[in-house]
Amino acid sequence: MYAVGIPRPGGPEVLELVELPTPEPGPGEIRIRTAAAAVNPTDTAFRQWGPREKEGLAPPWIPGMEMAGTVDAVGEGAPWTVGDRVMAIVMPRRALGGAQAEYVVIPADGAAAIPDGISDAEASTLPMNGLTVYSALLHLGLAPGQTLGVTGAAGAVGGYAIELGKVAGLRVVADSSERDEELVRSLGPDVVVRASKNVNEEVSAFREAVPGGVDGLIDAAVLDAGALPIVKDGGALATVRFWPGPSERDIRIHPVMVGDHLHDGAEIAKLAQLVVEKRLTLRVAQTYPAAEATAAHERLQAGGTRGRLVLTF
Ligand SMILES: NC(=O)c1ccc[n+]([C@@H]2O[C@H](COP(=O)([O-])OP(=O)(O)OC[C@H]3O[C@@H](n4cnc5c(N)ncnc54)[C@H](OP(=O)(O)O)[C@@H]3O)[C@@H](O)[C@H]2O)c1
Repeated sequence: MYAVGIPRPGGPEVLELVELPTPEPGPGEIRIRTAAAAVNPTDTAFRQWGPREKEGLAPPWIPGMEMAGTVDAVGEGAPWTVGDRVMAIVMPRRALGGAQAEYVVIPADGAAAIPDGISDAEASTLPMNGLTVYSALLHLGLAPGQTLGVTGAAGAVGGYAIELGKVAGLRVVADSSERDEELVRSLGPDVVVRASKNVNEEVSAFREAVPGGVDGLIDAAVLDAGALPIVKDGGALATVRFWPGPSERDIRIHPVMVGDHLHDGAEIAKLAQLVVEKRLTLRVAQTYPAAEATAAHERLQAGGTRGRLVLTF
């Protein structure tokens, strides 16, 4: 089979298609013939830095944490049938590699059926970022009517955060640049504040809208310590690049780790149902053949992409 390979840490140009043995599913696993795999910031980070030494993984490394395709082999006891269309979360930091391969073996409970009317490219953008927001909301533990702040609201995590916040009955305050305002408003937040790369301006914009501070914040813009002043005393902050604190004013800090949700296919299925109900929006910016992974990484790194870039296989 072929896969997108990272032969050594480096820029987008190091990516190349590699030939690897086709993996076989063991008990409780399925093999998926990949149709589409989304390209995320975690993939460009994996390419830039490679795995940690303690992970002990030999190159080439295969990136990709989410995908869509068709079940093509079923391990003993796995409750899927050959031919089922599925989307799945995948852990790339393992010997088998990630989602950006022609065939991918995963635990059967990391997949969910793709409802009719959702394309493979669209489906590939849901599992990882959808579960990230699911996890963040679980950690924040807000009650209906409380206020959720969202930074980086125009991005993939931020967009899902707005919509899933509304599904949870929260009052959502989201940031947006002037350029993204139409897009962000279309996702249905209660209040839009002006985003700024100047963190003091970003904080002021939120504090003007919510003088006492938000009850909980999903910080998809990765402001980390800079995001704390947006949160009320005793509120909660979900960070997405593992920032653990230090905190202030009794704010609870929850570093979100989507790798904790590799067996949450049932939650992916619930998210997919929200897509069917048009309460959750899947956004694909562009598809690229897997052989053009370098171009996709260059474009993602350039910033400003709205909607996900997706590799097709
Ligand atoms: N821990 C986990 O398990 C986990 C899981 C999923 C994602 N993540 C992380 O979550 C982050 C967001 O992912 P994503 O896919 O949503 O990225 P994305 O689609 O690139 O969106 C990021 C958004 O944040 C905005 N932004 C960046 N810097 C900002 C700043 N200083 N102030 C205000 N807005 C800013 C970006 O705007 P511009 O494009 O204009 O800069 C963009 O709208 C990434 O760092 C990703 O690695 C973590």
